[in-house]
Amino acid sequence: MVEGGRRLIAGNWKMHGTATALSEARAVAAAVARRQADGAEPPPRVAICPPATLVHRLAEALAGTGVLVGGQDAHAEPQGACTGDVSAEMLRDAGASLVILGHSERRASYRESDPAVAAKVEGALRAELEPIVCVGETLDEREDGQALAVVGRQLATSLPDALNGRAFALAYEPVWAIGTGRTPTSEQIAEVHAAIRTALTGRFGAHGQTIPILYGGSVKAANAREILALPDVDGALVGGASLRATDFLPIVEAGWA
Ligand code: 13P
Repeated sequence: MVEGGRRLIAGNWKMHGTATALSEARAVAAAVARRQADGAEPPPRVAICPPATLVHRLAEALAGTGVLVGGQDAHAEPQGACTGDVSAEMLRDAGASLVILGHSERRASYRESDPAVAAKVEGALRAELEPIVCVGETLDEREDGQALAVVGRQLATSLPDALNGRAFALAYEPVWAIGTGRTPTSEQIAEVHAAIRTALTGRFGAHGQTIPILYGGSVKAANAREILALPDVDGALVGGASLRATDFLPIVEAGWA
């Protein structure tokens, strides 16, 4: 596992949240500040990725707290005739410092290909956002014995060379574990994370050792500690359990080294 200070616990609110949700983020920030004040260990980085409409308000609400704000997607281009889309520059301008890219829900619903994800990653780097690039196999692919091959292919073609030397994170999110309450066994998670680490160091050398590899898919208070203790698991990308501070905070707490 990457040393504590590089751990990242990120909440992905998906399409949830209006202004009333800001109080949940404020509660997270207040608890993180209290914990940091009395803890000697390096704290994990904590991020919340709300819907685009809340990025600016969340960034204002969390300014100075150390809790980071991220987007959930960004167009590859800085601007253009792309109705409904938001660029990485716009997220940055609104106060985001990270952005989730290539989430399986976008790969499935909007047919985002690996090269399209790679173009978005380049856009995020151009805007100085830290990309969190998601990979993961479907249930059919896992049952077919293809999990490592699928993730390997996604890594090879979703990660542009421009990432070399740049800050980014990887998230392994098996599609069948997202929102289902099902999680892979510890052995399955460790196997894929080890393969991702090997691929990252093969591609980016020593820099690949420093890239946080997050696990995502039905992470909750009850399983966070066990998952975060696995080798090469450097954090978590949390969906449903990030919406309420009372659910998210025990996961953040498990992220302390
Ligand atoms: P759940 O934690 O709700 O399974 O979602 C995981 C996810 O997709 C985070 O990006």
